[in-house]
Amino acid sequence: MLVLGIESSCDETGLALYDSKRGLLAHALHSQIAMHRAYGGVVPELASRDHIRHALPLLKKVLQQAEVSRTEIDVIAFTQGPGLAGALLVGASIANGLGLALSKPVIGIHHLEGHLLSPLLAKKPPTFPFVALLVSGGHTQLMQVTDIGLYQMLGETLDDAVGEAFDKTAKLLGLDYPGGPEVSRLAKLGTPGIVELPRPMLNSGNLDFSFSGLKTAVLTYLNRSGSNTSDQEKANVARGFVDAAVEVLTTKTVSALKLTGMKRLIVAGGVSANYQLREALCAAASKCRFDVYYPDLALCTDNGAMIAFAGALRLQRNPTGANTSYAFTIRPRWDLSAINDFSGTPG
Ligand code: KG4
Ligand code: ZN
Repeated sequence: MLVLGIESSCDETGLALYDSKRGLLAHALHSQIAMHRAYGGVVPELASRDHIRHALPLLKKVLQQAEVSRTEIDVIAFTQGPGLAGALLVGASIANGLGLALSKPVIGIHHLEGHLLSPLLAKKPPTFPFVALLVSGGHTQLMQVTDIGLYQMLGETLDDAVGEAFDKTAKLLGLDYPGGPEVSRLAKLGTPGIVELPRPMLNSGNLDFSFSGLKTAVLTYLNRSGSNTSDQEKANVARGFVDAAVEVLTTKTVSALKLTGMKRLIVAGGVSANYQLREALCAAASKCRFDVYYPDLALCTDNGAMIAFAGALRLQRNPTGANTSYAFTIRPRWDLSAINDFSGTPG
């Protein structure tokens, strides 16, 4: 089964072709980062227009890379939500338009399910069940994953997502958008322990998170130190922020593994590319004896490969799961644990 994947939920247009026998044949991405940088964050209307500009050229590119013709596509998978409404509509209408033109079925995919399953695309994939730590610009969640489509929420952020906190902290430090990689780079130059920031909800007794106060603590610190904060001080602040965020994420993740008795962890979403988080989870994994899996670095942030792959896995489990009516909806707000739509244990 050859699946075309289309991702357009935010600021990356991603297209990919995944073949259930041969694996990932091609994937191509257009990042809108340079366009949004001038505004310090994503401008939804600009994002939608840019997806329109790039989706079809990227389709041509992946067909060429994979050396297949569009008539060989069996199914089209697209990101149905969550995300920016206008941006999702572009991907949904292109997917359904192509489906109609090619007489191929279309399947809507939950963006976070795409992230969550992306480590299974790696050479050494984990087996079910596992705990998933989903860390992106819009979400911070711990899930218990029993199988494809069987997701139970263990905890989530009550306010900002950790990626959002990275981006806001970057802005406060005068760094470029998107801030995650920039804050991480700067933190490597900082000295640990100089700027001690709070560890929000570390001892809350549950697996929920909160990151907006951490960002406010950065703001308060910078306000106190005045307008002439030195480069070294900024690096120390970045270090303080990263150490606090990573400690909370790691501690809660280890608690989730203990609570569920699981020995496998997958980490996915843009922040799963973070160097300090990987280092801390690696240390925790050897101490507490669990295995940790990530997507390839190139597939941590948004991409079409994870959408094509999730579409293929869903249809393997439920061959009638795609639709040929070409009437579509998008779901800008959509809870992943609400999509437990396979009854019993899938065969
Ligand atoms: O998964 P993603 O591409 O988009 C969403 O679904 O939100 O995640 C983007 C987020 C941004 O907040 C970005 O700053 C963050 O992931 N990010 C990082 C790193 N790379 C991307 N955060 C920390 N360290 C990184 N290396
Ligand atoms: Zn994402």
